[in-house]
Amino acid sequence: MFKTNTTFIGKVLIELSEVDSTSTYLQSRNSTDNLPEGAVVYTAFQTKGKGQRGNVWESEKGKNLLASILLFPKFLPPKYSFLLNMAVALAVRDTIVKYLPEPVSIKWPNDIWVNERKIAGILLQNAITMSTINSSIVGIGLNINQTVFSESLKEPTSLKSITGKEFSPLDILAVLCHYLEVRYLELRSEKVEKIRLDYKNNLLGRNVQRLFKVTSTGEIFSGIIRGVNSEGLLITEDSNGSKKRWRMKEIEFLRE
Ligand code: BTN
Repeated sequence: MFKTNTTFIGKVLIELSEVDSTSTYLQSRNSTDNLPEGAVVYTAFQTKGKGQRGNVWESEKGKNLLASILLFPKFLPPKYSFLLNMAVALAVRDTIVKYLPEPVSIKWPNDIWVNERKIAGILLQNAITMSTINSSIVGIGLNINQTVFSESLKEPTSLKSITGKEFSPLDILAVLCHYLEVRYLELRSEKVEKIRLDYKNNLLGRNVQRLFKVTSTGEIFSGIIRGVNSEGLLITEDSNGSKKRWRMKEIEFLRE
């Protein structure tokens, strides 16, 4: 049974046995109905799950957490929208930390990784008009009980692959709603420095020498992640001490 201790996130839960995508569904319901902030759409199976960069999000029926959450972050100027990415990534990380003793990291911009493998992905779709983020559909896919993944996926993992134990996706959704509310309220009450610091401290590869590939040229360089700027650009430092900022898709992490 789904039970939250939150005040608004997850108070309205729309549970579907199957849907194209919880994010597409929530987007269309939000344009026709008066859904409250914090409404959650949850499903056991998506026929057209959406990932970042136009990718497909695959998930075996009934095994994982697939949910989208409706937020109205009108208080956040669009130029600071990356703070919402940070808050959501931290909430997903906070949730996974509850179930695992291993370190759980945020791979910039907002993937969650354990043991150098991806356990969760986040897709944020903001509706911006003029200078306001009117709504944000926060789509979260968290691998729970799936242990066999399609070959095309890069290094996936799940709670069961790591622990050998099964978990209830709905129970984990309730925990996720709690942490989302905590992090969202931090953002709303302008505890921005805390969010930035927590994000930076949990960033995969920070202060560690790593290899990166520049997407446009194919150039490979050795550098160190130093953090993320206020727009969400990744800051790397190369061996000459020169710092560079990167947008999404401009750079790829290579496995050591
Ligand atoms: C990624 O590519 O890392 C982001 C994946 C986001 C997947 C989730 S699953 C629930 C929600 N509905 C979708 O269609 N996508 C998101």
